[in-house]
Amino acid sequence: MLISHTSITARISDLFKRVDYAKDIRYLKRYIPHKHIRWTGSGREALRQILLQSDSKNVGIQAFTCHVVLDAIKAAGCKPVFYGSGAVAEIDEIEKIIKKIDALVVPYNFGFLPEIDKIAALCKKHNVIFIEDCAAALGAEYKGKLAGTFGDYAFYSFGISKCIGFVGGLVASDKQLKLEKYGLKPFPALSLAKTMIEVMIAPIFFNPYIYPLARHLLDFELDKHKSQKLIIPKSMKVNFFESYSMPKFGIKVVLNQFKRYGKIMQIRKDNAELLMGRYGKYSIITPKKSSQPSWLYFVICSDNRAKLIKSLSSKDRIEFSYMRTYADLSGNSKKATKEQNRHMIFSLYKKLS
Ligand SMILES: Cc1ncc(COP(=O)(O)O)c(C=O)c1O
Repeated sequence: MLISHTSITARISDLFKRVDYAKDIRYLKRYIPHKHIRWTGSGREALRQILLQSDSKNVGIQAFTCHVVLDAIKAAGCKPVFYGSGAVAEIDEIEKIIKKIDALVVPYNFGFLPEIDKIAALCKKHNVIFIEDCAAALGAEYKGKLAGTFGDYAFYSFGISKCIGFVGGLVASDKQLKLEKYGLKPFPALSLAKTMIEVMIAPIFFNPYIYPLARHLLDFELDKHKSQKLIIPKSMKVNFFESYSMPKFGIKVVLNQFKRYGKIMQIRKDNAELLMGRYGKYSIITPKKSSQPSWLYFVICSDNRAKLIKSLSSKDRIEFSYMRTYADLSGNSKKATKEQNRHMIFSLYKKLS
């Protein structure tokens, strides 16, 4: 047997259960309480739209994160200005670039939060638009306040491996949103059908006794998105970028999951505590004081990553992996390169004990 490094939250019943949008939106509002929300076809599309609406030009972006964040900045016609980082943003790195930018994107990688209140204050002082990337941090809290409620805009992703996984994304803000005018293509039916099939086969595919046979298929799928292959640091080339709207069916599946998101977060938190006890001797990314992560992932950092992944999977039957799409996007941040080569992840939504 082997417990996979990945997991998905959607259940087959989420595909079929009806929702009453007007009533059930309250479940989403528990975690995204902003005055205005707009659904988009992906998290990256949500960011592109925010940048277009806010008329940003020079955009501060963390060196270590998912390459699609950089793609969205470029697709909006903006210039990326990198700040050095490991997994979690640091205020003194942001201070170095704050005078050169008119918008700042802070991705809450793996669901961990930086000192958001200080970042928000810094942006305010310098009249910089603060955009919180909550793609991995739905429901996370800093000083008792939800991630996504500190900045001018927040965006979320409902991609298959996210906090709530299926398809799509969302923009949230207390400012009026005027996104419709940037007309979008309908979400591709084939991608939607593929995701539905993934949801349906997941209980078998990720069964710990079947997974050792199936895992090569997953590796093949993940390797298609490897960022090291795609990234051309500093060039203004944009990787393939899709601008889609959110399908109605996707909203239904996502809302069905919001109804039980409290339970999903609790499972992740319990598993994180279990693994912190078990793997305390390794270098683990732990939450900053006063923060409660979403615990999308449990993250260990190791100079001997390949060896440790191998030994945990053979000894403990737990499979860690690394984010194929995460890299040092700046091409010159020592901290980011170190994180790129050392991080190993295990998604926490599963039965462990
Ligand atoms: C930190 C971060 N931000 C943004 C995104 C973009 O989300 P999406 O895949 O829905 O475009 C991702 C994931 O892909 C991510 O990991």
